[in-house]
Amino acid sequence: MVTDAEATRLRELAAKVAEHAYAPYSKFRVGAALLLEDGSVVTGCNVENCSYRLTSCAEQGAIARAVAERGPGIRVRAVAVSNLNDAASMPCGACRQTLSEFGDDAMVVLSPGEGGPRETTLGELLPYAFRGEFLKGTN
Ligand code: THU
Repeated sequence: MVTDAEATRLRELAAKVAEHAYAPYSKFRVGAALLLEDGSVVTGCNVENCSYRLTSCAEQGAIARAVAERGPGIRVRAVAVSNLNDAASMPCGACRQTLSEFGDDAMVVLSPGEGGPRETTLGELLPYAFRGEFLKGTN
């Protein structure tokens, strides 16, 4: 759960960081803002590559930055995704899996949906997620 004020701030920060996106191929500039358990916010944007498949999504960039800056124990309470194209855009499948590594089903996902802003949860976007808990400490 996030307050209206938190949601507004996250959406604003996601839109702001989208201005830094490196998207010369798709021209689809995306920003993501993560609200961490300690109340801090970490942002990221998409970074494309001429090989196309090496493109990094905004959500993935934000997660990588959060881990690099705050360490491996980060937990994400909420994520806002925004784009500068006024397009409906939910996190892609790969990003849903990336996010699920660092939060539970209750993680709030704020994104531009069809017809306006949308608030949902990761559990709704990625039901029956593959979780690697059982892989930890096995070797
Ligand atoms: N993109 C994201 O940054 N996040 C998503 O969840 C979906 C797609 C980016 C990747 C690529 O640079 C551009 O949007 C067009 O697909």
